Amino acid sequence: MITNKIINIVKIKCRLLFRKSYSNLIKLFYKLPTYNFDFNENEMPVKPPILDDICLPPFMGPKDHDDYTSLMKIIMHYKPNNVLELGTAHGNTVANICNHLSDTKVYTVNAPIEKQTGNLVTYNLEQNDIGRVYRNHGFENRVIQIYENTLYMDLSKYIDGKIIDLVIIDACHDTDYVINDFKKVIPFVKKGGIVLFHDTHPSMDNHLIGSYTACMILRKKGYDIKHIENTWWGFWINNS
Ligand SMILES: C[S@@+](CC[C@H](N)C(=O)[O-])C[C@H]1O[C@@H](n2cnc3c(N)ncnc32)[C@H](O)[C@@H]1O
Repeated sequence: MITNKIINIVKIKCRLLFRKSYSNLIKLFYKLPTYNFDFNENEMPVKPPILDDICLPPFMGPKDHDDYTSLMKIIMHYKPNNVLELGTAHGNTVANICNHLSDTKVYTVNAPIEKQTGNLVTYNLEQNDIGRVYRNHGFENRVIQIYENTLYMDLSKYIDGKIIDLVIIDACHDTDYVINDFKKVIPFVKKGGIVLFHDTHPSMDNHLIGSYTACMILRKKGYDIKHIENTWWGFWINNS
């Protein structure tokens, strides 16, 4: 019994070590360039956040960077008509987007616990809890909630063609899921549209390894994904 436990711990440690070594190796060739969006501060006042169940630094997790303000500046700059989010969780980001832009429609996907798979999933949620923040704040009429696992979802059932201006990939952070999610959203992104990847940082510490590695693999395949300076955001712009 104890021997089995030790063997399992050693196996997990070896797997993590192998994964980190692989990621560090491809980082030598495919490290994401860092980009700084130089937005005019006055053009886009960012409101204080709705805080209920917020999942973005500095309001949750580390306090040394501000993913909330970076995201809202991007939102205010692009003023997207249609947003697609993978990973609704309790619906805080959706609520904050709707709070900044009064006409924006948001499609958002989250697997209820019984449909969810993967390792770096952050939450295991019952259907009632998915999106409760945007519902509590009265934004339900602008949101299409999709209760599916991103691995198996068919977005064409909900979205008709290239109508999405901004995508947030923030569901399961395992490398293969992030690659899957990116490939699934591309057919719906308008020319000039932007895809954001959360929990993407060159440190690749802990849960940050999966998405950063996915972005490097996608970069290797020719997608010009960059990292936004001083944030946990990666991004890609659809120039084709
Ligand atoms: C980091 S949280 C998302 C945070 C959210 N964007 C917010 O505003 O608070 C990740 C979410 O993705 C969901 N998720 C994980 N794996 C998934 C999958 N394969 N398909 C769909 N949803 C998934 C989890 O249930 C969790 O709620």
